[in-house]
Amino acid sequence: MADRYAVVWTRTGAGPVKMGNLVATGRECRFSYTDEFLQRRPAPALSLLAGPELFGSEPVVYRSSARMPLHPRLMSLVPADSPGNLQRRIHTELLARRSPPPAPGFETEWELLLLTGHGGIGHIDVFGDDIEAEDWYANPVHPQSVVGRRSAVWRFVREEIEQSGHAVPADTVAELLGPTPSVGGMIPKLLATIVDAPAWDGRFAPPGTPAIDDRPAVEVILKIEPAPYAGLAELEALCLDLHRELGFEVPRYWRADVDGMPLLAVERFDRTADGLPLPLESFLSVMAAGSRAVRGSADAEWSSVGRMLERLGRVASLDVKRARREVYRRFVLAFLTGNGDLHLENLSFLGGADAVRVAPVYDPSPMRAWPRHDLRSALPVDFDSALSLAENLYALGAHFGLRRDEAADLWSELRRRSEDYPERIMALEQVPLARRRTLADLVRRERALVS
Ligand SMILES: Nc1ncnc2c1ncn2[C@@H]1O[C@H](COP(=O)(O)OP(=O)(O)OP(=O)(O)O)[C@@H](O)[C@H]1O
Ligand SMILES: [Mg+2]
Repeated sequence: MADRYAVVWTRTGAGPVKMGNLVATGRECRFSYTDEFLQRRPAPALSLLAGPELFGSEPVVYRSSARMPLHPRLMSLVPADSPGNLQRRIHTELLARRSPPPAPGFETEWELLLLTGHGGIGHIDVFGDDIEAEDWYANPVHPQSVVGRRSAVWRFVREEIEQSGHAVPADTVAELLGPTPSVGGMIPKLLATIVDAPAWDGRFAPPGTPAIDDRPAVEVILKIEPAPYAGLAELEALCLDLHRELGFEVPRYWRADVDGMPLLAVERFDRTADGLPLPLESFLSVMAAGSRAVRGSADAEWSSVGRMLERLGRVASLDVKRARREVYRRFVLAFLTGNGDLHLENLSFLGGADAVRVAPVYDPSPMRAWPRHDLRSALPVDFDSALSLAENLYALGAHFGLRRDEAADLWSELRRRSEDYPERIMALEQVPLARRRTLADLVRRERALVS
């Protein structure tokens, strides 16, 4: 395979800056900071474990594997090959029209990175070359139309979700939406802006649109509930509420239904009030950059997450004590709510190495409501079968800086303060009764084991 080249830029208050150059050889992915970036350090680094203070002018070299051909931070910019991924659908259709189209495998992933790797989550923008980068920043594409109920975009989304044939061509959608950067995960979603008001009618505009109908807009992640997961948006909203009530940091959210499609719009926390990007890097990205054994979002034990936080505190300005307690509390509430899906991409770091913290709560959906996702914990816990489940869970606290009694107190506090959760599940109106019963019963049983 021929070597492939790309450039990495980011946006700062003083304008866009180039961060460095990227070479992918198929065997490895090499990134080097530019001299100017190294001297001025105008923005946070490529990744928490790839800072200029660690590498200087030495390249950051990542050895490629089939699952992670590029540095993990860059992989999160490529839309995943999962059925619900709208970006992947739109962009592979556009790529298929090229002559010749890129070959499946690395070539396709690389072309997707160049198409979707800018303007997405976090602060990293990838382009084919500097001219393209400068042009993209200088001429932001702002399609005029606000997307409403009758637009082709919604038709496309609905057809995608129902898998009912593709009457709306992907380029129409690309034109209406503008360039659609990638967002990871399994649930179909778009980056968008909506009117910043308490109620929402389901209309949205492309990301970066400052105002809609002369009213200020807010940047959101718009999640569209797929039919097999009826009630997911309502359940996710309930869990966002619950986390907020229990003192977690939770973004604002809005609910609406368009054409019978339930929507959840969650305010983005990877942008400042002025619209500048903040670094957002998943636990997966950090752990995979540090260890070749980690390739996927469930490739680590919970204890190793605690150790990673401790080690990260040595190279980044992270309040380790606070971060470890926070992550353990997330773990406890995931267990108590029947989440089962708290994996390494549902936890992230917000901010660069000079001030980084655990990102606010996102994706707290109680996936155990669906039998095929009924897993106690997405990450394994090193289990001592001589001890009860509860004692094992308290013991895990040690990896997050908590003594057994502190951990046990935390469990009973969060359990007590969310006592009415099963009843709240049963009161939801959009979740099918069978799913509500499954989840409420399961949660009651699980809670009994840790009291
Ligand atoms: N409020 C937010 N602000 C900024 N980035 C976010 C926000 N919510 C989610 N993200 C980013 O978008 C990604 C996908 O979002 P999310 O995890 O909610 O979707 P998902 O499809 O349900 O994922 P999963 O496959 O884990 O179920 C996250 O991994 C995170 O990087
Ligand atoms: Mg997720």
